[in-house]
Amino acid sequence: MPELLPVLDQETIEKLIDETARRISEDYAGRQLVLIGVLKGAFIFMADLVRRLTIPVTIDFIGTSSYGSQTVSSGHIRLTRQIGVDVAGRDVLIVEDIVDTGRTLAFLVAHLRSLGARSVNVCALLDKRARRQVEVAVPYCCYAAPDAFLVGYGLDYDERYRQLPGIYRLKFESEGTP
Ligand code: IMP
Ligand code: MG
Repeated sequence: MPELLPVLDQETIEKLIDETARRISEDYAGRQLVLIGVLKGAFIFMADLVRRLTIPVTIDFIGTSSYGSQTVSSGHIRLTRQIGVDVAGRDVLIVEDIVDTGRTLAFLVAHLRSLGARSVNVCALLDKRARRQVEVAVPYCCYAAPDAFLVGYGLDYDERYRQLPGIYRLKFESEGTP
């Protein structure tokens, strides 16, 4: 069984989201925002973020798949669920759990633009910047994450660990002692 090493506790995550929600509310003051959460990883982050925003928002979710049960991105992004709201002419904020190579986000930004969104911006709980392969801006990032496989607070490994209230690094047996 892999070992779980603590990275962020619940209280720390809440403070990070408070700050990011405050910035979004300020930047979008007087506008209406469509939040598009990326399933399934962003479901908890979306719920916590949306309750801290002071601007009017509508929400929807989009589904992508690239990982399977591996911890390395396949690079092939597939839509597994399309949005049900009309984003044409609207300000969109993609809500993502974690950005790794950037391929998923680059695909989603292009997709939402192609649907006629007026603006498409990105908010991510975690950003593993060191692993970026495709350039994509993440102006609302709660935490710059280490280059490690993380689980909890919505993030999974092979569909497990999503319900953990904090973020943990998954240490595989093959990694030995640090
Ligand atoms: P990217 O396309 O390589 O940027 O990968 C982004 C997606 O891969 C995220 O939406 C996550 O679902 C998943 N992912 C990337 N890194 C991790 C991780 O450390 N833990 C869990 N899921 C991850
Ligand atoms: Mg995801």
